[in-house]
Amino acid sequence: MLADLYNRPIKDLRISVTDRCNFRCTYCMPLDEYEWINKKEILTFEEIARLATLLVRLGVEKIRLTGGEPLVRQNLDHLIAKLSAIDGLKDLCLTTNGALLNEKIDDLKRAGLKRINVSVDTLDAEKFKRMTKRGDLSKVLEGLFAAKRGGLHPIKLNTVVERGVNDDDIFDLVEFARDNGFAIRFIEYMDVGNSNNWTSEKLVSKKEILDKVRERFPLREVGRNNGSAPAVDYEFLDGQGDIGVIASVTEPFCSSCTRMRITADGKLVTCLFSHVGHDVKALMRRGATDQELVDFVTGIWKGRKDRYSADRWEALQSSSYAPRSRKKIEMISLGG
Ligand SMILES: C[S@@+](CC[C@H](N)C(=O)[O-])C[C@H]1O[C@@H](n2cnc3c(N)ncnc32)[C@H](O)[C@@H]1O
Ligand code: SF4
Repeated sequence: MLADLYNRPIKDLRISVTDRCNFRCTYCMPLDEYEWINKKEILTFEEIARLATLLVRLGVEKIRLTGGEPLVRQNLDHLIAKLSAIDGLKDLCLTTNGALLNEKIDDLKRAGLKRINVSVDTLDAEKFKRMTKRGDLSKVLEGLFAAKRGGLHPIKLNTVVERGVNDDDIFDLVEFARDNGFAIRFIEYMDVGNSNNWTSEKLVSKKEILDKVRERFPLREVGRNNGSAPAVDYEFLDGQGDIGVIASVTEPFCSSCTRMRITADGKLVTCLFSHVGHDVKALMRRGATDQELVDFVTGIWKGRKDRYSADRWEALQSSSYAPRSRKKIEMISLGG
């Protein structure tokens, strides 16, 4: 088994298919001006599928497509068809802001997509526009229900909770999810990238989120799916669905992190908070054989010792954490 320096296997792969996005969520990428990756530097579907196939041979069981906004990449269904056909891959899913879901759902389904996560931080249309700087909530809801009608399952909502912004939307979102058969994942606000002006005051902790939910909806902890999923899951005691919380800040899960990432421009990255990527695209475009690519990936994984969130949590306890002291790769090119 391929394992890193902390004995963590490689099991999950997140692929950012584009750094472009039709939203500008204030917590992710609020900048209107940005140095976008040149189109010819973006991995082709053939390159992505080749890498994914090799990574599955090395142990990857699950692939998530993300971005940027993956649905702004033309013909994403063609990539989904290629990835769905990989022997040994157990799970393929997509994280999307949902704005283009309604128009693309049939193609995505036909290509083999079974499940999705859709990011929704509020059900208040005005607030939604403010948080995304340009999003139209009605389009996202249309997409969400089109996916439900199309039979995708499970459909999970992703909600980043930011203090003073949408922490008062927690009940409404839980109710909406329960009423419509969606699962919901609350995500602690993180200091991703370099532009979101994260401060610990804006963080609403997992404990606070759960205390709030429990005021109306009693819960029972289920645990982490496969022991290594980022979310800790909970069931409602009345049996009407489940929720999860991703507590990357207050309960770092670095010790069980099995994720490799590929950026839109073909860099392998071993942590969401990394500032370095390993240029596998350059190697491929120079004509590397499969074995050379496998050796490259293996070497990177074997040398992996990231534990950024665990270190951050220790630094936050002693108030010595400076989120902007180290330049990170932006979430939109890295893939959330
Ligand atoms: C970067 S997005 C990419 C996929 C797609 N555009 C979307 O929004 O779902 C992936 C996930 O990262 C989450 N995210 C972005 N910035 C975050 C932050 N600062 N803290 C926590 N989660 C964040 C988003 O809410 C989303 O669920
Ligand atoms: S990538 Fe996703 S989270 Fe980031 S700005 Fe776009 S829609 Fe928002």
